Amino acid sequence: MRLSRADVVLGLQWGDEGKGKIVDALAAHYPVVARFQGGPNAGHTLYINGQKVVLHQVPSGIFHEGVYCFIGDGVVLDPEVLLTEVRGLQALGLSPTEKLVIGKGAHLILPVHRWLETVSAEGEKIGTTRRGIGPAYADRYARRGIPIEWIDASDFSERVYALHEYHTKRFPHAPPPEISAGFWEGIELLRRLPRVSTSEWLPQFESLLAEGSQGTMLDIYAGTYPYVTSSHTTIAGVLAGLSIPPQVIGEVFGVTKAYATRVGEGPFPTEVFGEEAQWLQLRGNERGSTTGRLRRCGWLDLVALRYAVQINGVTRLTLTKADVLCGLPTVKVRVGGSDTAPQYETLQGWQSLEEESFHDFVKFVENFLNVPVWGISTGPSREDWYVRTPSHGTHVS
Ligand code: IMP
Ligand code: MG
Repeated sequence: MRLSRADVVLGLQWGDEGKGKIVDALAAHYPVVARFQGGPNAGHTLYINGQKVVLHQVPSGIFHEGVYCFIGDGVVLDPEVLLTEVRGLQALGLSPTEKLVIGKGAHLILPVHRWLETVSAEGEKIGTTRRGIGPAYADRYARRGIPIEWIDASDFSERVYALHEYHTKRFPHAPPPEISAGFWEGIELLRRLPRVSTSEWLPQFESLLAEGSQGTMLDIYAGTYPYVTSSHTTIAGVLAGLSIPPQVIGEVFGVTKAYATRVGEGPFPTEVFGEEAQWLQLRGNERGSTTGRLRRCGWLDLVALRYAVQINGVTRLTLTKADVLCGLPTVKVRVGGSDTAPQYETLQGWQSLEEESFHDFVKFVENFLNVPVWGISTGPSREDWYVRTPSHGTHVS
């Protein structure tokens, strides 16, 4: 096995921390960027040459030459979404099919999985993205799901119809969904892409970058259950989703906003409301990239962040969207208290990210969490970020 280093980018909050941008910034240093969990519930927004691109299923390394984009076994994959995304990237002049490689153990999301989120009220209670994530993982764990490997089986379509009917007959009064032409076209696309054994393919490379989706507080075990997604968004998901051993884990890049957001239902101790929330939503463009929903907004929760840093073994932090807070006279951070009565520290605000008060904020975060703030994102574009602390002993600049 050649693989000696797997660096990881993880979200430390409720998703939408700006992981996609950090992955894009780091991708050129690695031969492979690998998604290890989640599916098209993710919305990784990137601004490439002034153009907004949202990736749902394709890893954020796709804008780099000579970088493979791998979809690992821990992922649930919607062939229709993949097809649409591949076409969109082709329209931008890229050749995504030359870089995409799929792990045979990833599972399919069928139209019936999306449908299940609308006929049962379960998804509504959680405020899911309605991408069929929960039902696809539920089938996977109930051992009736459909791994990518099976698309070559002679009875593949029978297996798809069998699972489809298994679910539709549970809701006899609801009009069943169509297994659309787009689904089968997506399957044809998958048949043209390399599909590999994850445990054999990945170790031929010396290094890889693992790209997390969603965030720690949405992890199925470690998050705010039941208001979570259905996969392991934490470091544990990397090992299981990519079949790699713990010894190869290198840097764990944790990404956090300078404030907090959450889409969907569930506890959010530092949430703000009214004008304060609207200000952040507007300034931060806090609207879900997958669903278009306005994101709930709040102050940075250092108590939750410390938990996320600890359980993931984060070695470097990246702070995003501090520019959004420019112009506030003061900025609050949660430093203690209970979830229902959080305690805050009020810090001096900043007009620009060059000001001393911003650097004091950064140092406050570092001291509280006991991890260096390594990267700082200064705006939405690809170029808008810098490395604060020089790297020590790694090949990443
Ligand atoms: P699901 O992943 O669609 O099942 O949704 C479960 C919960 O995770 C909901 O609260 C969603 O809003 C949230 N969620 C899922 N994916 C993302 C994401 O990429 N960003 C932010 N929230 C997400
Ligand atoms: Mg997102």
